Amino acid sequence: MKILVTGGAGFIGSHTVVELQNAGYDVVVVDNLCNSSEKSLERVAAITGKRVPFYKADILDRDAMNKIFDKEAVDAVIHFAGLKAVGESTQKPWEYYENNVAGTLTLVDVMRKHGVKNIIFSSSSTVYGDPQTIPITEDCPKGVCTNPYGWTKSMLEQILMDIQKADNEWNVILLRYFNPIGAHPSGTIGENPNGIPNNLMPYITQVAVGKLKELGVFGDDYDTPDGTGVRDYIHVVDLAIGHVKALQKIEEKAGLKIYNLGTGVGYSVLDIVKNFEEATGVKIPYVIKPRRAGDIAMNYSDATKAKEELGWVAQYGIKEMCADSWRWQKNNPNGYEE
Ligand code: NAD
Ligand code: UD1
Repeated sequence: MKILVTGGAGFIGSHTVVELQNAGYDVVVVDNLCNSSEKSLERVAAITGKRVPFYKADILDRDAMNKIFDKEAVDAVIHFAGLKAVGESTQKPWEYYENNVAGTLTLVDVMRKHGVKNIIFSSSSTVYGDPQTIPITEDCPKGVCTNPYGWTKSMLEQILMDIQKADNEWNVILLRYFNPIGAHPSGTIGENPNGIPNNLMPYITQVAVGKLKELGVFGDDYDTPDGTGVRDYIHVVDLAIGHVKALQKIEEKAGLKIYNLGTGVGYSVLDIVKNFEEATGVKIPYVIKPRRAGDIAMNYSDATKAKEELGWVAQYGIKEMCADSWRWQKNNPNGYEE
């Protein structure tokens, strides 16, 4: 099967291309490189020993997308392309809705006109809002998102569900990721944030490498065991393998399916600091700061459905997530820049 991966030069996309190639799929990548570097794909090829055919194109560019689908006999699309910075989305909502929502509408239209009706979509646990029950099962009702980025995910889930409902030739799998961290164990591909990181693990690794002075812990008065926020961190390689399993489900004519991809285990901010220090031997100085607007106390998955229906269970633990994040950062202090 030939799989077109949008956003395949990015963090999760590049790791997924590795696992797809390892599993024997033909892969084609489309990315406009607005938040990534083509070097990630050179490194993927070095890991797998296989070339990664790459088109530099924007999913909003209908002509470019038509040409790619005319040329490549695509069987299914794994759709990662999107803007993902939560804070930025509150400043530039139009850009987020345009890129993520209009971009996906264009992609899906080009797909159906080429008879390609299989898609795996990157959604997020953010669609649950402040969850009504924890651990969160897929039956937990969707909630109120706190930012435009989250709304794009929630709206796109609805759009793809409606398209599948109207035309049951479509197979649509919505994957709701919890908090992806870690990097390929080779230390050659990883997360490459622009500017000062907003997310916890890239912030910690930049403190560890000496680029930032100390970690600010956003609130220690939440209703959690140590007062700091609890999340379900998942190794990006496990997440990537989850996409390979989802593709196998698509091949069985899945219809519409929704899966959480998480470990089912929650760690607090201070648990992460402690585990990072133990896994790497590097001390992370921190200070307690006020809560960050829009944060919730606790969020972790019930990962049973993906286990039962996809045969997928996360294999990596928190120590490996920390060690692999660190190996990538240490070997590539400036990401893909020389
Ligand atoms: P990323 O920014 O590293 O990857 C996204 C890629 O899409 C980038 O390479 C970017 O250049 C590309 N892209 C963006 N807009 C495009 C467009 N219009 N046309 C072509 N390419 C475009 O982000 P990531 O962390 O790898 O996330 C991948 C997907 O998973 C995103 O949709 C993101 O919203 C979703 N997601 C990420 C997380 C996370 O914590 N990283 C959590 C939940 C969901
Ligand atoms: C955030 C987004 C989510 C997105 C995900 C991955 C919000 C509300 N949610 O999730 O939509 O899918 O990123 O991009 O922004 N923390 C600190 N100090 C820091 C950074 C984080 O204490 O410098 C804490 C946070 O308060 C939180 C935990 O660490 O408790 C994880 O934060 P983060 O990595 O930003 O992920 P989320 O907020 O869970």
